[in-house]
Parts: sequence; C-alpha cells; structure tokens
Amino acid sequence: MRLEQSIITRRTFLNTLFSGWFVAFCLGSLYPLLKFIYPSLGREPDFVVLNAKDFLNIPNNSTKPFPWGAKLGLIFKKSDGTLYALKGVCTHMDCNITYKPELKKFYCACHKGWFDEDGKNIEGPPPKPLEFFDITIEDEKLIVAKKGVKVELPKS
Ligand code: FES
Repeated sequence: MRLEQSIITRRTFLNTLFSGWFVAFCLGSLYPLLKFIYPSLGREPDFVVLNAKDFLNIPNNSTKPFPWGAKLGLIFKKSDGTLYALKGVCTHMDCNITYKPELKKFYCACHKGWFDEDGKNIEGPPPKPLEFFDITIEDEKLIVAKKGVKVELPKS
C-alpha cells in the first residue's frame, strides 16, 4: 500500500532536521565560549566544608552525597565504620556512580563500569580508580579536600 500524501512534507522534514542541527551547533559552540569568558566554569574546588553531624552518623556500608563543585561527591562509610570521601563520578566519561551495598561495589550505569570498595576499577571501561579525598574533622565541620591540599579555616 502506498500513501498518497504524507503528514510530514519533505520541506518540513528537512526544516526540522536543519533546525535540530543548527541548535546543536549553537549549543556546542556556546559552551567553549562561556568557558573562555568564565574560566572557573565547571572547575572543581580544592576543598569543601560540610556540617559534620550530617555525615558522621550515616549507617555502615552506605553513602551520602554532597556537592563537589558542580559534581557529585560521596561520603562513604565502609562496613567496619571507616569514613571516606570520594568524587562520585566515573573515571570513564564522568557519569555519576552509585554504591551497591549488597555487592560492596560502586557501579556506573552509563557503560556498566564497576569499582571495588577502595575505588579500584575492576570491570568495564573505566580506565583508572575513583578519586578519594582527605577528610578532617574540625569542631563541627567536616573538611573534604583534594589529596595534598592543606586547608586552614579562619578561627572564629
Ligand atoms: S562513564 Fe562510567 S563506565 Fe562509562
């Protein structure tokens, strides 16, 4: 059976296709331009200061998210009660990871990447381990910093 008239004309189809391409091109060009104008755009912080009581009492074998700049950070408490902080972003293409407590592994759903509890890449495409941070507790504050960054908070 052959349709005599299509609902979408050739002109509409081509206009839609061209418009989509044009919008994608503009958005693709805008991001580098904004990055040039605002160099700090998307830059990760050297450290963040969190409220300690919000994170110290999470259950063993669980995670709690915090903002690491524009990315996901995770406070992770192992089953033995040891507390860690890590960037909750896959080392393959920056997708957010999730912790699977029943498997004691971190999982990236984008391309089925797996990391063990210590952040080591064990399966799938991730090329390197997860980034873990240093944590210190000062008064009521939990300071999460990139490895080697020394943080001195002003005394109040
Ligand atoms: S982004 Fe995580 S496996 Fe590809």
